[in-house]
Amino acid sequence: MGIHFGVDYYPEHWPKSRWETDVKLMKEMGVQVVRLAEFSWFKMEPNEGEFHFEWLEDAISLLDSYGIKAVLGTPTAAPPAWIIDKNPKIQPIDYQGRMRHFGGRHHDCQSNPVYRSHIKRFVTAMSQRFADNKGVIGWQIDNELGNSHYDLCMCDSCKTHFQKWLNNKYGSIEVLNEAWGTAFWSQGYNSFEQISTPLITAVGENPSAMLDWKCFCSDLIVDFAKWQADIIRQNCPNHFITHNYMCFDNKVDYYDLGKLLDFVSNDIYPAGNWQKQPHQPIDEIAASHDVVRGYKKQPFWIMEQQSSIAGWGTMGRAVEPGQMSAWAMQSVAHGADAVCFFRWRTCAMGTEQYWHGILGHSGNPGRTYYEAKELIGRFGSYMDELEGSMPNTEVAIVHSFRQNYALDIQPNHPQLKYVEHICKYYKGFFDRNVPVDFVQEMDDISKYKLVIAPLQYLMTPELEKHYIDYVANGGHLVLTMRTGVKDANNICMTDMELPGRLGEICGIEIPEYDCLFEKEGAILYEKREYPISKWADIITLKGARSIAEYSTSFYRQTPAITEYEYGEGMTWYVGTEPEEELMDELSSYLISKCNITTLGTSGSEVEMMTRENSHKQWLFVINHSNEEQVYSLNDRYIMLEGEKEGMLKPYEVQLFEKNIVKK
Ligand code: GLA
Ligand code: ZN
Repeated sequence: MGIHFGVDYYPEHWPKSRWETDVKLMKEMGVQVVRLAEFSWFKMEPNEGEFHFEWLEDAISLLDSYGIKAVLGTPTAAPPAWIIDKNPKIQPIDYQGRMRHFGGRHHDCQSNPVYRSHIKRFVTAMSQRFADNKGVIGWQIDNELGNSHYDLCMCDSCKTHFQKWLNNKYGSIEVLNEAWGTAFWSQGYNSFEQISTPLITAVGENPSAMLDWKCFCSDLIVDFAKWQADIIRQNCPNHFITHNYMCFDNKVDYYDLGKLLDFVSNDIYPAGNWQKQPHQPIDEIAASHDVVRGYKKQPFWIMEQQSSIAGWGTMGRAVEPGQMSAWAMQSVAHGADAVCFFRWRTCAMGTEQYWHGILGHSGNPGRTYYEAKELIGRFGSYMDELEGSMPNTEVAIVHSFRQNYALDIQPNHPQLKYVEHICKYYKGFFDRNVPVDFVQEMDDISKYKLVIAPLQYLMTPELEKHYIDYVANGGHLVLTMRTGVKDANNICMTDMELPGRLGEICGIEIPEYDCLFEKEGAILYEKREYPISKWADIITLKGARSIAEYSTSFYRQTPAITEYEYGEGMTWYVGTEPEEELMDELSSYLISKCNITTLGTSGSEVEMMTRENSHKQWLFVINHSNEEQVYSLNDRYIMLEGEKEGMLKPYEVQLFEKNIVKK
């Protein structure tokens, strides 16, 4: 596509007389694309059927006259007051039965047929209007779907849709009663019509019903997006369709949503005021990029890349000189083909007055602007060749929205968090400069030297077979605590000891366990003691070797981590959640056992990542700290950008290449 750097622009927030100044500055900075209009429904349709697209056309043609292309957002995350006034029932109902009202955004129910008809009218008009506009290249559907809903909507429309979804899934109420285990607490139903959306109960919830509810909500969001995607595809066959994701956010299964899109986009705010300060740890940012690349197994766009201070009522910290560039190139290193900075100019009004952009409130170019300009000047010329390239990975971590849902419903230990847990494994490899992919459970994993499948809590016979076959054929697999606990309906397995049939490839059985609730635990590994947390599976060896034993509690000296050769391959079972120190040891051990390539050696603030095409590999080395760092590479590369191999100035980004021959 040849488009690599952009900004999120809101011309409607500024007088028209300012626009050309903005566009000139953008041009000088190297901007090639802007995202526009995703929150300006009222400005485009102030009354039903009265369309005013002229201002947007003017903005687009001004941008186009400077060679800057536009991605248009459909503004359906903020229906205007006149729609709400006519149809108040469009507003969503929370789990306490309260309506969430107009005044913020996402004050909409996604199943509501009246809202759907408004969307149809509007998106049809908008997409027809811009189909042949030469300044427009693509569309972003809605904005951050799943965001801004504390819980999804419990209204009557959603109730009817949920009932239909269940009927479709189970076919008869008897089958649903069985699947949900409604014999417990007299929860049996005579018909689908008796089933409600999960409003607040007197106490407790049915975990099987809640799992279906979360899957339904995800399907509803996908269907909501499809409603628009179908219209745009029909009217604008030459435009791409994307959507701005939120990293690991789990309101919608991003793999499912990705099927509707030409490519996935992501929004990333490493130092937003909700993140750990001074900024989100770099391994977590990297993991977010890697999972986003995994949603469609292809490069992606960053639709919103943090450029400056982020926050609403309160603010996160200032972005240090060089830091924005390091984050932006980190996005590119992990697979972004384009990076759009949020936002062009800091807004003077509304909720996001303090969410800063490339320009401050004054509109004068300052430090952030000149840094962005320099970044584009330095790295822009490599982007065309990088486009479409992917990392060559040997390690995969399994990621699943369903497991995430089930463990949100019942975390087992109050602090157990699915994404946090799988990212602990990620960090072990990231810190050793090993590129990692995230994959879905049933993906083809045969190419990976090592697959880590943490928390395989919900299990099916197909998934068991998938892992057994992988190991039998020479794969190296890590399974962990809480594997095989439940069936697909979120009902506990009863036919075997844990971890169920996968015990066969692990060479173990787990007849008992201990939840480390307000309890410390430790294990002995290679004669050293390491803290563990949250969980301890009490393991009986059935052929496996123990490579670490508990050193606390009544099960001290029993196996905590095991290793077993099965078929042509090997399986490790980790019966606990390792803390960082132990994860360091464990990942080093697995890297050497599985002969995994590491890119080099560096401290924890330095990151290495590669992308490659059929004949070239690029290596990015990024310093995420404000101090000088040293590092060493394990292979020889030609330096394209940077001062000196092995040395990094504060926030320096270095780029290398080498030729490769693909088998
Ligand atoms: C999100 C949204 C944007 C904006 C920013 C800042 O990422 O997509 O519309 O709201 O956050 O709050
Ligand atoms: Zn609803």
